[in-house]
Amino acid sequence: MADTSPFYITTAISYPNGKPHIGHAYEAIAADVIARFQRLQGRRVRFQTGTDEHGLKMARKAEEQGRTPADLADEMSGYFRSMCDALDVSYDRFIRTSEPDHHRASQAIWQAMEASGDLYLDRYEGWYSVRDEAYYDASELVEGEGGEKLSPQGTPVEWTVEESWFFRLSKYQDQLLALLKTPGFLEPASRRNEMIAFVEQGLRDLSVSRTSFDWGVKVPGSEGHVMYVWVDALTNYLTGLGYPDDMGDFWPASLHLIGKDIVRFHTIYWPAFLMSANLPLPKHVFGHGFLLNRGQKESKSLGNVTDPVELAERFGVDALRYFLMREVAFGQDGSYSPEAIVQRANGELGNAFGNLAQRTLGFIAKNLDGYLPAIRGHQEADTALFEAVDQAIAKDIPEAFENLALQQGVEAWLQAVFACNAYIDAQAPWTLRKADPERMETVLATLYICIAQLAVAISPVIPASSAKLLDTLGIPGDLRNLDGIRSHWYSPLAESDHRIIAPAPLFPRLELPDEAA
Ligand code: MF3
Repeated sequence: MADTSPFYITTAISYPNGKPHIGHAYEAIAADVIARFQRLQGRRVRFQTGTDEHGLKMARKAEEQGRTPADLADEMSGYFRSMCDALDVSYDRFIRTSEPDHHRASQAIWQAMEASGDLYLDRYEGWYSVRDEAYYDASELVEGEGGEKLSPQGTPVEWTVEESWFFRLSKYQDQLLALLKTPGFLEPASRRNEMIAFVEQGLRDLSVSRTSFDWGVKVPGSEGHVMYVWVDALTNYLTGLGYPDDMGDFWPASLHLIGKDIVRFHTIYWPAFLMSANLPLPKHVFGHGFLLNRGQKESKSLGNVTDPVELAERFGVDALRYFLMREVAFGQDGSYSPEAIVQRANGELGNAFGNLAQRTLGFIAKNLDGYLPAIRGHQEADTALFEAVDQAIAKDIPEAFENLALQQGVEAWLQAVFACNAYIDAQAPWTLRKADPERMETVLATLYICIAQLAVAISPVIPASSAKLLDTLGIPGDLRNLDGIRSHWYSPLAESDHRIIAPAPLFPRLELPDEAA
């Protein structure tokens, strides 16, 4: 039986203190691929992304630019949203933490934590990194090249002293340890040991409010305090579902997809807040790796910051999406370059898949007047191809995607495409036109069916191209899911009036940009 349970997936919400970079695009695309895959399996999906607008980092950046944080957030948040739109990211809600319902939700979770006796007023004295928006214990700091103190992420820290509310994180030590040891909660497994070690060394209570600035969610009943930005940021996952009102059946989240640098916030602080507020815990947190530009981190000082929207305009949205999923083992760090994008897109999308569709459909258009070929008894080679494609779309691809082995899922798809190419070469329908026209039709019908199946299976990764191909093929909407496309739809379609027109190339050949040639 198909799993029709609700699936709630979220990305981290980004600080809109500048424009989005390739890392933001990578996370949004990966989450979108997973969301689309789950819809394809028939699950009810809710997908949320957005911007994280409060905190000192935003306040300081705005001050630097002589504007208000709200103004900065308004402008930059727009870029994040239009990046998602440009990249075909199918979010259900793009949340901004400056929105009124989010303030209400954050105050509600605060009050729930307070009601559990987990908040108390004290004074914070310690290190803070504005770049990470994180408190660090002195023992965690590392030394920079000039002897200055840096956070474990290598960002500057400043000594901070102020009155602050504290959250009794220490109280949840044992429960958190048990949670972190629960198989499947935090992945990849390599990130677990670090978190377990952090908890085992003893958790200190967490400062959860600030008094030295006011750009944040007001602490209820405590004049002059705004919430620590991570308290409100994490709560976005609930806001989008209607908290503190009825959240329907999407909570607890099926998957929080985040970068590996913010695992501590999601697998220690967040679960502790939820435990305190008596809310169920997310089922799965996945910390993906970083994407490097030719092996280097992007930074303004290196001048190698890539605008993901420009990249998509240059190479095509689907080529970029495909490349990112195909190139990097999900969970590990990866590298990209224009050459690598062009090579994958031309070789695998263009030559392997695009040409397969082009040749088959062009042949049908030309030699059969566009009428779908009839099947007149299958030979062993046909059955073998059906089996290979079915193995991919019914088992290998869904299993890989379900386990977030996205790269493996794409590889399984590509193997099935190769099998189709081997089949077309071996059967050589162009030699059958005169010699055995009936056999020619069967071969073309076999290919037609397999191409439709492969187009559906890869649609989470290249949604626009696959929709275009499925339109050309005449596959009705209700078949465009993993169950439907395995059913016996071909004969009814072949008997309908559907005719194929020779398609325009799906994946135009990409040229290397000049500077790299
Ligand atoms: N803005 C944070 C960052 O970029 C991520 C916040 S994710 C949330 O590191 F869950 F807290 F919202």
